[in-house]
Amino acid sequence: MHNFYSEKSSDGRPHILAKWAFRIAIIGSTVAVLCMVFHNTSHHFDHFYHKSSYLPWPSMSSLSKPLPTLSSSPVVSSSKTWDGMAFVKNDTKLRKILRRAAMKDKTVIITTLNEAWAAPNSVLDLFVESLRIGNQTQGLLNHLVVIALDYNAYRRCTTLHLHCYFLTTKGIDFSRQAAYMTNIYLTMMWRRTNFLRIILEEGYNFLFTDADIMWFRDPFPRLFPDVDFQIACDNFNGNSSDKNNWPNGGFKFVRSNRRTIEFYRYWNASRERYPELNEQDILNHIKFDTHVAKIGLEMRFLSTDYFGGFCMPSKDFNLVCTMHANCCLGLDNKVKDVSSMLDDWRAYMTLISAHKATQHMSWTVPNYCRPPDAGRGPTVKLNAFDSRDKSA
Ligand SMILES: *[C@@H]1O[C@H](CO)[C@@H](O)[C@H](O)[C@H]1NC(C)=O
Ligand SMILES: *[C@@H]1O[C@H](CO)[C@@H](O)[C@H](O)[C@H]1NC(C)=O
Ligand SMILES: *[C@@H]1O[C@H](CO)[C@@H](O)[C@H](O)[C@H]1NC(C)=O
Ligand SMILES: *[C@@H]1O[C@H](CO)[C@@H](O)[C@H](O)[C@H]1NC(C)=O
Repeated sequence: MHNFYSEKSSDGRPHILAKWAFRIAIIGSTVAVLCMVFHNTSHHFDHFYHKSSYLPWPSMSSLSKPLPTLSSSPVVSSSKTWDGMAFVKNDTKLRKILRRAAMKDKTVIITTLNEAWAAPNSVLDLFVESLRIGNQTQGLLNHLVVIALDYNAYRRCTTLHLHCYFLTTKGIDFSRQAAYMTNIYLTMMWRRTNFLRIILEEGYNFLFTDADIMWFRDPFPRLFPDVDFQIACDNFNGNSSDKNNWPNGGFKFVRSNRRTIEFYRYWNASRERYPELNEQDILNHIKFDTHVAKIGLEMRFLSTDYFGGFCMPSKDFNLVCTMHANCCLGLDNKVKDVSSMLDDWRAYMTLISAHKATQHMSWTVPNYCRPPDAGRGPTVKLNAFDSRDKSA
């Protein structure tokens, strides 16, 4: 989590660094404590691990620099409240972007980014590169909407000629005491979830993807037709209907309809029942709720054969659609392993075009992305427990 500090040293603004170093130190230790609290709450290393793979930490990134002057941005949707969703909802700029980016069936691909991930040679570049070298995935870039969580991410996004939307954090005072950090962090994650609900309310289906998911093939042909909510997994047990699968909120396809909008409302409302959990952990609780059954929401879990990750890789290069750099601690480690993963894919495509056998291809990663105590103590089992066991 301290990565963001070191990343800043490359931005050529040492005076800002110095000014903010003290605050970052406080914030860093607060986050460490926060992680420990999560860890202790769950009594599972896995829990901490999942949380750590659930970057970006939007508030962390923004904290490392003073807020930009918001008036300098051409796309500002100011927000009075922390959630600020009432304003986003009526935002004509957002509507315009969605209209431009949507496929014929009103589907958009959405990712969110902070400054650290948007920086040159970081996650965003790798993500875009994967779509360029993937098999017939280049065209999908036209349907991608990048939600920038801070102004520098927004600016970088626009230089790449993508559809970029700046979801401002005006109203959040980053110079507040670090003790507030817990709230800010959770608020930002919920802001994302509620933002996705707005997309549904605007009538668009979305495929949400974390930017650390590399796209090698068009995922749409592998999705279930006519399913409301389908989501990739850190760990997949072979049965797409089994709610005991461990989903990862980093990749999900959600259709816009009455059921999914109601489900997103219910998801947000469940915060009150689990105030100490983030939205991904709450999903693991509410997926079993009778209310979700009552809504009639159809939910499916996507196979890691097609939608893999470092937790559970797609083994067959001839099938893989996406690979997520999940189960990874540290942004530097992530970037290194994802770069190697793209090299693996290029090697595969070279063999294919030379009509050479590819049966024995396997990923050379992860190398850097490993749990901090791998090989020591009890084996880390990523999904060895039922989420219902860990209600705090
Ligand atoms: C959004 O726009 C509609 C009509 O254009 C208006 O009735 C409504 O009050 C607006 N909502 C907000 C929160 O501004
Ligand atoms: C790429 O896609 C085309 C068209 O769908 C297909 O014919 C070809 O076999 C694919 N190549 C690979 C390596 O998957
Ligand atoms: C898959 O899971 C569903 C829901 O738990 C269950 O009804 C079904 O029998 C399972 N299918 C198989 C093949 O085990
Ligand atoms: C989400 O739920 C919280 C309470 O848990 C509520 O205060 C907030 O208004 C809700 N936000 C949205 C956008 O529905």
